[in-house]
Amino acid sequence: MADYREEILDVSSFPIEESERLVYAFNYKFPKKDAYMFLEGPSLHIKLYQLDMTKYREFLDGLDISTELAEQVYDIIDSIGSYGINGNKRLFSGYNAERKVINRKAKEQSRSKHYYASDHNFSKVNNELPSAYENKIICADSLDFLKKLPDNCIDIIVTSPPYNFGLEYDTHNDTARWNEYFDMLFAIFEECIRVLKYGGRFAVNVQPLYSDYIPIHHIISNFFIQNKMIWKGEILWEKNNYNCKYSSWGSWKSPSSPYLKYTWEFVELYCKGDLKKPGKKENIDITAEEFKSWVVAKWSIAPERNMSEYGHPAMFPEELVERILKLFSYQNDVVLDPFNGAGTTTVVAKKTGRRYLGIDISEEYCRTAQKRIDECDLGQQSLLDKASERT
Ligand SMILES: C[S@@+](CC[C@H](N)C(=O)[O-])C[C@H]1O[C@@H](n2cnc3c(N)ncnc32)[C@H](O)[C@@H]1O
Repeated sequence: MADYREEILDVSSFPIEESERLVYAFNYKFPKKDAYMFLEGPSLHIKLYQLDMTKYREFLDGLDISTELAEQVYDIIDSIGSYGINGNKRLFSGYNAERKVINRKAKEQSRSKHYYASDHNFSKVNNELPSAYENKIICADSLDFLKKLPDNCIDIIVTSPPYNFGLEYDTHNDTARWNEYFDMLFAIFEECIRVLKYGGRFAVNVQPLYSDYIPIHHIISNFFIQNKMIWKGEILWEKNNYNCKYSSWGSWKSPSSPYLKYTWEFVELYCKGDLKKPGKKENIDITAEEFKSWVVAKWSIAPERNMSEYGHPAMFPEELVERILKLFSYQNDVVLDPFNGAGTTTVVAKKTGRRYLGIDISEEYCRTAQKRIDECDLGQQSLLDKASERT
């Protein structure tokens, strides 16, 4: 006999006849081995092994009785997030046992987790960021400026480097030869890794240049792995940018060389020395709802809409930074952006109660970043409130 998953619904607010008719109709329509219902006092018990949700929808549409309760039952079943698939049916039970790895921990140990980073020689001694650099927007080449910082003094780096797409930045040349571009980027990233604390996090937002067939995100990941950083994961930032969908076909309607289009970017996440980052409980500012939603690593967030207002051609939206900071850092942590642009990282760091250091080579962008910080009134409605308004 199937091992059912059970959901229980309090039906005391519905007329008893309605509950009874639903149970009768449902049990008549669906085989007991798949799913069935029964009433016990004020509770409706829904026993689920597997169910074709399209058939259930058709069943609801064909009912000649009031469907309010039946709709509620449908919603309960539909909202069950963990299920397997068996043909057209959702499988609510049994599929986990089939997939279960026996002795998972021992097997992980014998395979050796993040083996590529285990022979690192990062110091575990963390330092304070000198107060002269705390909460500052600095106009400089990051390669020069970062050399002034001590080792292990930054909790989290959130950044989006120039992608070398040929954008019109204020000072930076965005059309370097690829080897020169990566030399520049990796020299700065090496310094970033040095200044990152043991246990610190490094989040890099990056988009490959598809037209040049350069998988920037893979090349960057390869660099981090060579430098003994632990790959924590990857966020797929879905921008829902469907503008790009119906142009640039490559070889139209031919397998000769079709051109793939993308509506998303990546955020690659790395850790220095340890996957765990200790911190005080009172400095955690993520809510339970945010946590549940954001650990699912596909984030649907609209691109920044105020780039012309800020006078910068390639900004990321505040919400992307807010999610990264709340999920991977604590309040009062030190946040660094070595490609700070118009200052999105630093302004969100300030709004969420973190310390910050933002560096950009353009004076104009640094002025904008500083202005955003200055305008960020502390009495302003907190991001937390905004997040709850959005939901
Ligand atoms: C993609 S933009 C970052 C935009 C930023 N995330 C925002 O939301 O405003 C990259 C930035 O890197 C800056 N940049 C390029 N080379 C640099 C360097 N060597 N040192 C510091 N900044 C640099 C550019 O001026 C540009 O503003």
